[in-house]
Amino acid sequence: MNKFIKTFTVVLAIGAATSILAQSTTGDEKKINSLIKKMTIEEKVHMIHANSSFTSAGVPRLGIPELVTSDGPHGVRSEHGRVWSDAKNVNDSGTYLPVGVALTATWNPTLGIAYGEVLGSEAKYRGKNVILGPGINIMRSPLNGRNFEYQSEDPFLISKMVVGYIKGVQSQGVSACVKHFMANNAEVDRGTVDVQMSERALREIYLPGFKAAVIDAGVNTIMGAYNKFRGQYCTHNEYLVNKIVKGEWSFKGALMSDWGAVHNTMEAIFNGTDLEMGSDIGKPALSFPNFYLGDTVVGLVKSGKAPESIIDDKVRRILRVLYKSSAFSKTSPGEYGSEAHIAVAKKVAEESIVLLKNENNILPLNLNKLKSIAVIGANADRKNSMAGGSSQVKALYEVTPLEGLKKLAKNVVFNYAEGYKIKRDAVATPEMIAGAVDAAKKSDVAIVVGGWTHGYSNSWSDNVFDAEGVDKPNMKMPFGQDELIKAVVAANPNTIVVLLGGGAIDMSQWVGNAKGILETWYGGMEGGTALAEVLFGKLNPSGKLPVTFPKVLEDAPAHKLGDFPGKNGVVVYREGIFVGYRYFDTYKVEPQFAFGHGLSYTTFFYKDLKITKGENNSVKATFTVTNTGKVAGAEVAQLYIHKEKSAIERADKELKGFEKVFLLPNETKTITINLDKAAFQYFNETKNAWDMEAGGYSIQIGGSSRSIQLKAGVNL
Ligand code: BGC
Repeated sequence: MNKFIKTFTVVLAIGAATSILAQSTTGDEKKINSLIKKMTIEEKVHMIHANSSFTSAGVPRLGIPELVTSDGPHGVRSEHGRVWSDAKNVNDSGTYLPVGVALTATWNPTLGIAYGEVLGSEAKYRGKNVILGPGINIMRSPLNGRNFEYQSEDPFLISKMVVGYIKGVQSQGVSACVKHFMANNAEVDRGTVDVQMSERALREIYLPGFKAAVIDAGVNTIMGAYNKFRGQYCTHNEYLVNKIVKGEWSFKGALMSDWGAVHNTMEAIFNGTDLEMGSDIGKPALSFPNFYLGDTVVGLVKSGKAPESIIDDKVRRILRVLYKSSAFSKTSPGEYGSEAHIAVAKKVAEESIVLLKNENNILPLNLNKLKSIAVIGANADRKNSMAGGSSQVKALYEVTPLEGLKKLAKNVVFNYAEGYKIKRDAVATPEMIAGAVDAAKKSDVAIVVGGWTHGYSNSWSDNVFDAEGVDKPNMKMPFGQDELIKAVVAANPNTIVVLLGGGAIDMSQWVGNAKGILETWYGGMEGGTALAEVLFGKLNPSGKLPVTFPKVLEDAPAHKLGDFPGKNGVVVYREGIFVGYRYFDTYKVEPQFAFGHGLSYTTFFYKDLKITKGENNSVKATFTVTNTGKVAGAEVAQLYIHKEKSAIERADKELKGFEKVFLLPNETKTITINLDKAAFQYFNETKNAWDMEAGGYSIQIGGSSRSIQLKAGVNL
């Protein structure tokens, strides 16, 4: 038996045991098996590779339709037709939701569900079976060009947010596709780089989000990443796919490749790739029938080099996805760009804005007193929906920050200055700075809108910082924005800096002098409206950072302890489990803004932490939060655990629970967070299993990882 056949037998055995169960409980499994019996090997093989840019073949003779996919992850992508050319005369302008990191910055899992429902419903309307999202790769470095699509540096927060998103999508009869499995934490070299990390980092940091997607959310499809993991491409990685996903997690759906991520036929056949996606780029050798899982597989089966049962397993998984994704019966048509969907986009934008700094309560701005506002920065009037690469969305409309401000402050004079040119390596010229200073001087307040920019897919060599296929060269503000902000702050002390982008940017040159700072990510079609409402106090900000903002790049653990992007095709995650705040808190490095940080226009008081021990090392924590200020607001109460006197290397604290509470002035609510034993476990590499240290733990509660208000001990 060759090595491939041996491993596959194990997976098949596990699959068979569970699919027997499924057969007796669902009629679909019976239908699927009967369809497979009627199919020729050629028909089966057509189903396991792409037949156009976003589809794979069905079997018309048996009434099996094509499987139709679409990006994802924050809107249904504009139509690219079957051969990657923009489709004409189609209705493909829909809801543009805030990007992934913005959703997570709400720390509101209920919004995750609403967000997923919008995507599912719009995908269904557009005739898609699968929406290619959510993207949940860990934000390991601030430089990853795709962080904006992802969620967080923290596996627990990802796990909680991703479940809502997936359930929301799948409740509409459309499949979600969690991506990019695994360790696609940088874009440069993504197609070749080999990621090396410890088993503990894998289990504690990089896998939990995917595990929650499979086990807690029941995701129907997974996308294998471009990169390698421990020497083998992720999409046909024996350990990751066969052993973990299909073995340990009993995943029953389909694992598809990223576009062009398959590199080897035998590995793809035997190591769990169910569907090879990619582009037919016109050359015969790269045409769809010549894909790794193309016609060649027919010959391999006929000559006995690959058992037909293994192809049946892939087809069975794809058919399951089709059955679960309205391919055979469509119960409702879905909705597109509806008012209800736009309301969700707005709500997510509202709750995603993070107020980083608010010296002397410069915010909210009082519209009754303001006569003039300087709005400075090219980002203030730039649309982002079609930028970023494959996640581009043709938005029905998009309110820019400047438009949002003007709409809400009708009686105010706006003095706009472009401030900088969005062009890589551009600097703010003296003339542009002078224009901005002039606008700032003659206005009551100055709002600089800056930060990172998305690039447009037709000019990837230009303007690109937050986009697929590129990483940022460093964490410094591009286009001469540091000089600009310093000059504006000097001209008008009432300056507020509004940042756009997929994450941290080096603010060290002006952070001490700007009175107000907000992070708004890329806020979707209503991002400008939500920003204006926050600035003018119609809305109280409640977003919290899902990722640490370091002061300078050198402080980020991937750069301090590990490799980024890697050397000679290999990247070693030497920082291990010390990702994000786990590093900053344990190594006592002061971040610019801590994980979980986010201010409000009101104040919150935490009290009365009580810890109760339950059975099997479970723990219940209850405490109260009171709104002690004058306006209604929401607080994200966060629970971290800390192991006292640990015998092993551990992070100083780990997020294990959170709840977002909405409180009127003087209102108090009691919060209960239940922790099961998994909350206290670590992955023991010697035993190769989850393990628990006995002894004392401290339960720490607060409004951020660096603002702990209550502590109590528990012995386990
Ligand atoms: C991206 C995926 C995307 C796919 C299809 C790839 O380049 O990495 O996230 O879903 O293209 O557009």
